[in-house]
Amino acid sequence: MLTIALAKGSLLKDSIRVFQSIGLDFSAFLEPGCRQLQIVDPTGRAKALLVRNGDVPVYVEYGQAQLGVVGYDVLREKTPNVAQVLDLKFGGCRLSVAVKASSSYRSSLELPLQGRVASSFVHCSREYFKGLDLPVEIVPLHGSVELGPITGMSEAIVDLVATGNTLRENGLVEIDTLFHSTARLIAYPLSYRLDTYGLHTYVQKLREVLKVED
Ligand code: PRP
Repeated sequence: MLTIALAKGSLLKDSIRVFQSIGLDFSAFLEPGCRQLQIVDPTGRAKALLVRNGDVPVYVEYGQAQLGVVGYDVLREKTPNVAQVLDLKFGGCRLSVAVKASSSYRSSLELPLQGRVASSFVHCSREYFKGLDLPVEIVPLHGSVELGPITGMSEAIVDLVATGNTLRENGLVEIDTLFHSTARLIAYPLSYRLDTYGLHTYVQKLREVLKVED
């Protein structure tokens, strides 16, 4: 059976909507109190796994799921060996550098040499600051990275920004953007090449629904 890895959290509702538009219904994940991690579409043609955003490419890379929906930010950070099939256009956000609004820094290049940058995007941050030839220490965190500059642990953070509310409410401002991100459909390369479980038909239907040009 075709297996699709879906990310918990902010991408879930739109991911379910997109698959509903091509006749696969995993909306049971959204029912209040639902604790199931695996749901079979009522037509019995496909099942979905509910996993953490960062784990979606893992299931797809190992072939336990033939398709997955994940943020481009995760693909940039983890560089998994998966086929990037479609830009699903939802889940828009950007990975940005931010500092305390009260600080004097207004661009990444103004940050102090050997300064600290807190982030859960360690790989992307390292590459970015290497590209600027600015030696900084990346402090790995798993969430609430805004507390880095607030507590004085770091001069800056590298984090996802969507509405900008989290930065505003914590007295931080964006000073540079590393890249923009949206949700992507990814595939297990072997299944995609061999068109197992009618993968190409599903992808073609998604292209039509999303009005993607060939
Ligand atoms: C992300 C990010 C920010 C927030 C930004 O967290 O880490 O905290 O969204 O969104 P905004 O600009 O609309 O306020 P997310 O909600 O993905 O959860 P996380 O705590 O797991 O990072």
